Amino acid sequence: MGDTGANLNLLPREVLPGVLVCPNAEELARAAARRFVDWAWQSIARDGQFHVALSGGSTPQALYRVLASQEFRGQIDWPRLHLFWGDERAVPPDDPESNYGNARRELLVRVPIPGANVHRMEAEDPNLGRAAHHYEELLRRYLSLDDRGFPVFHLVLLGMGPDGHTASLFPGSRLLRETSRWVSTPNVAKLGKRRMTLTLPVLDAARRVVFLVAGSEKAATLREVLLGHPEPPLPAQMVQPRNGERIFLVDEAAAALLGAAAPSAAAAQPPAKPKGRT
Ligand code: 6PG
Repeated sequence: MGDTGANLNLLPREVLPGVLVCPNAEELARAAARRFVDWAWQSIARDGQFHVALSGGSTPQALYRVLASQEFRGQIDWPRLHLFWGDERAVPPDDPESNYGNARRELLVRVPIPGANVHRMEAEDPNLGRAAHHYEELLRRYLSLDDRGFPVFHLVLLGMGPDGHTASLFPGSRLLRETSRWVSTPNVAKLGKRRMTLTLPVLDAARRVVFLVAGSEKAATLREVLLGHPEPPLPAQMVQPRNGERIFLVDEAAAALLGAAAPSAAAAQPPAKPKGRT
């Protein structure tokens, strides 16, 4: 599928290696949906299944609606998909804050995915450490492991906060130096809330990581993440798939500060990895 059949005027344009700019948030969702369909078929053809970690926050919800639409839902072999989450808030699944709850409302109740293929993070569990352990066991049951023993997702969807956080990996968190655990339960000081999140080594083990970033409030951070070398690096910058692809699908508003300063493809080298991470 790719962008075949899409309105040529609305196609994403690549401004930096792996950075695709879409005219607006709606076209961002459609460009992401077209690629989701392709990646699903590729993974199912190769491995028989498609293992995806969904993102939380508001930006991916448009994608979930498009995937559930008449136009797209028939193009996906839902019984071969297994859906997981990159992070979750410590709230019940019916709470408006719940990442699972939002995906359920926008996608899961509208597509024929078997309930047994939906693996939410039970972050409402008062014993969050136990829930994180259970989630690690779940990943071990369904996902293959890479050469370092980390679970391999076919696709991880991520967002980015204006502070450069992604999933529930926030700037300054000790979690950014995690090298062994798969799932963690940070107490996010700036929010005063607990979260459950996949760790960097798991994000870096993915076959493909796709950041969905929209809105002018993200422009300065996106420029820093893609063109800057802040010390310490921002969490969204630290996601560097070892044997996989990293893609930023963004809208014009978020890319507003990339244009002029976007160096030639060759010069746009990813920022240095933080010390100790190879
Ligand atoms: C979460 C997310 C978080 C999100 C960013 C961007 O649970 O909140 O996983 O990392 O992706 O905060 O959120 P928006 O898409 O709402 O801007």
